[in-house]
Amino acid sequence: MIVADPPYGDTSLEWDRPVEGWHERAAALLKPSGSMWVFGSLRYFLAEGKNFAEAGLQYAQEIVWEKHNGSGFHSDRFKRVHELAAQFYRADSPWADVFNEVQTTPDARARTVRRKKRPTHTGNINASHYESEDGGPRIMRSVIYARSCHGRAIHPTQKPVDLLEVLIRTSCPKGGLIGDFFAGSGAAAEAAEMLGREYVGAEIDLDYYSAASARLAQNLPLAIA
Ligand SMILES: C[S@@+](CC[C@H](N)C(=O)[O-])C[C@H]1O[C@@H](n2cnc3c(N)ncnc32)[C@H](O)[C@@H]1O
Repeated sequence: MIVADPPYGDTSLEWDRPVEGWHERAAALLKPSGSMWVFGSLRYFLAEGKNFAEAGLQYAQEIVWEKHNGSGFHSDRFKRVHELAAQFYRADSPWADVFNEVQTTPDARARTVRRKKRPTHTGNINASHYESEDGGPRIMRSVIYARSCHGRAIHPTQKPVDLLEVLIRTSCPKGGLIGDFFAGSGAAAEAAEMLGREYVGAEIDLDYYSAASARLAQNLPLAIA
């Protein structure tokens, strides 16, 4: 699995420049069973959509990350409290071959409500005419709430580890390899470590690389090599 959280190019900030050419590299590195989760805004995906298609990457689905707070860049627009992550896979391999472990919600179970079967002679004397049956775990919703890292972040666009854990469990088997193209704070590295997946990350900024390395080194007893 590849996780990519590139600069979205949404702002005029100096570091927020779209990166060219990484889509092809990602497509070349993906196994046929692999897929890639890319973080971005709708503006980013509209602008970059053709690059994914030209690299031979097929869109599969997206999730919405709902934050507990967000950014209000514009006083005349909604306060933005969400980001998107879209999943792509190699267009030359069928979706059926892609590793995909559907996630379920641990705290809710689907219920089936059906009319009770009663012996005919009881008539209408039963107070409850319906019964509720356990329908098994509920499939996780595509809008996923996770607290953003404000106040404790070591990177301005740091993603929450628990959100990354959901994406990793969905798309990378135990012992599988995560490639992180824009590592930033090392959030995906921490999530991979927690879940027993291998991890290789790339980060161009030496300060962030150092901060991410220090963060991972603190996660004892989980050792990093
Ligand atoms: C949106 S941030 C990633 C944040 C990260 N997901 C996290 O949770 O902390 C994008 C990162 O990509 C890095 N970056 C930009 N261009 C890059 C490149 N060509 N190769 C590797 N990293 C790059 C930036 O320095 C920045 O740290």
